[in-house]
Amino acid sequence: MKITKICCIGAGYVGGPTMAVIAQKCPEIQVTVVDLNEERIAAWNDENINNIPIYEPGLDKIVLEARGRNLFFSTDVEKAIDEAQIIFISVNTPTKTYGKGKGMAADLKYIELCARQIARVAKDNKIVVEKSTLPVRTAEAIKSILDNTGNGVQFQILSNPEFLAEGTAVQDLLNPDRILIGGDSSSEGQKAIEALVEVYSNWVPAVKILTTNVWSSELSKLTANAFLAQRISSINAVSELCEKTGADVNEVAKAIGMDSRIGSKFLKASVGFGGSCFQKDILNLVYIAKSYGLNEVADYWEQVIIMNDHQKRRFSNNIVQTLYNTVSDKKITFFGWAFKKDTNDTRESAAIYVADDLINENAKIAVYDPKVSRKKVLADLDYLETRTASANADSVLSFDTPYDACANSHAIAVLTEWDEFIQYDWQKIYDSMQKPAFVFDGRNVLNGPALEAIGFVYQGIGS
Ligand code: UDX
Ligand code: ADP
Repeated sequence: MKITKICCIGAGYVGGPTMAVIAQKCPEIQVTVVDLNEERIAAWNDENINNIPIYEPGLDKIVLEARGRNLFFSTDVEKAIDEAQIIFISVNTPTKTYGKGKGMAADLKYIELCARQIARVAKDNKIVVEKSTLPVRTAEAIKSILDNTGNGVQFQILSNPEFLAEGTAVQDLLNPDRILIGGDSSSEGQKAIEALVEVYSNWVPAVKILTTNVWSSELSKLTANAFLAQRISSINAVSELCEKTGADVNEVAKAIGMDSRIGSKFLKASVGFGGSCFQKDILNLVYIAKSYGLNEVADYWEQVIIMNDHQKRRFSNNIVQTLYNTVSDKKITFFGWAFKKDTNDTRESAAIYVADDLINENAKIAVYDPKVSRKKVLADLDYLETRTASANADSVLSFDTPYDACANSHAIAVLTEWDEFIQYDWQKIYDSMQKPAFVFDGRNVLNGPALEAIGFVYQGIGS
């Protein structure tokens, strides 16, 4: 089957960049990204390319090149479904906040709505691709809805998980480590796999395109994220031990990372991992394991989350303790709010939880993040429902420049590893702060000895 039209439901962090790259690399395929959120679609269509809703290095150029040529953003979901041969489902799958599996299982409400809509609209055979991370065996549920509520047309369900990391999405999409496509073993299933393989073959070498059965593909995505998160919790556990023993976690990470069996990546101790995937996917894994009665397996993976929560709390506790056991009415400056550098995404960012702890201690938090607005900071805190929105607004101060954010501050906490933080005029910052001036480097990115030479009291993670 020659693919000429693709539709993607969900214009978010996954759908937007992924489809932009497919459109750029496959000029003969018309790619339409649809979303119910009108504001989001309007932003994707904004003539000023700086206003597209997702910040990713290099994404603006790709959107500029393809938009209007073969890349379209629209709220007309039904039309796009009707026309497409391949439909990607890229909607959000948050952790359930109610009922059975609350706080652990993925909420498949949005996925199910998509499946029902596809079934209602489709008048010819379609390939439906799961792009969102989903619990194992979701494809089965999607298939059941499509087959039972459809118009008698054939649906093939593929699992094609996304492995891009935010901040490097464009590079990850252009040069992926692998593309994973899971499908049915029937000849129809194999044809669907081949059709999708052909799309990716426009720019991905054949050796990097892996085809499996649907369940392996679904489980591989959860497992890849669980392994990555586990490495961070492992090095963070070691960071606490380093602080007690006089070892330096950066040196330990380098020493163990040179073992080619371990490898050097993803061994950076930090204030804790965030992002929309790691915690959600592990909770999902834990839930699935428990539902099969595999309690030891569930406990094993849950420990990764427990360690991560501990690391965030340990960071805020240390700030309070170091500032003479009280931060009440003290201005504490946060450098960074995003869950990592080069993204405006703040989902599950450690900054939210550290701020929440410090506000409980009556601190005033002055946030400076080059890509995150005050509105977003407050929305993140309000979402926790620890206190009223007006109490959050009273506790969070926002400034347009990092220097204003630091004036009269008692301490600076680095929550995101933005490169620009390293370049700041730290003498100027020091001069404007209360003394002693503390820096808590939750990302180990600043030059500790240089800051100490200026007069700061500097504390990194794990040394
Ligand atoms: C992750 C996976 O990397 C990606 O393959 C998957 O598709 C989605 O989930 P993402 O969450 O975007 O991507 O970012 P990632 O770079 O993995 O970072 C996650 C968190 O871990 C961030 O908060 C980051 O700061 C933190 N981290 C990462 C560390 O604390 N130390 C490290 O060594 C690496
Ligand atoms: P992700 O990180 O998985 O891409 P996002 O939350 O950034 O998640 O994006 C998911 C998008 O999916 C949101 O913009 C949301 O409005 C959209 N969405 C959810 N359900 C539907 C639906 N039934 N039809 C169209 N769009 C939807």
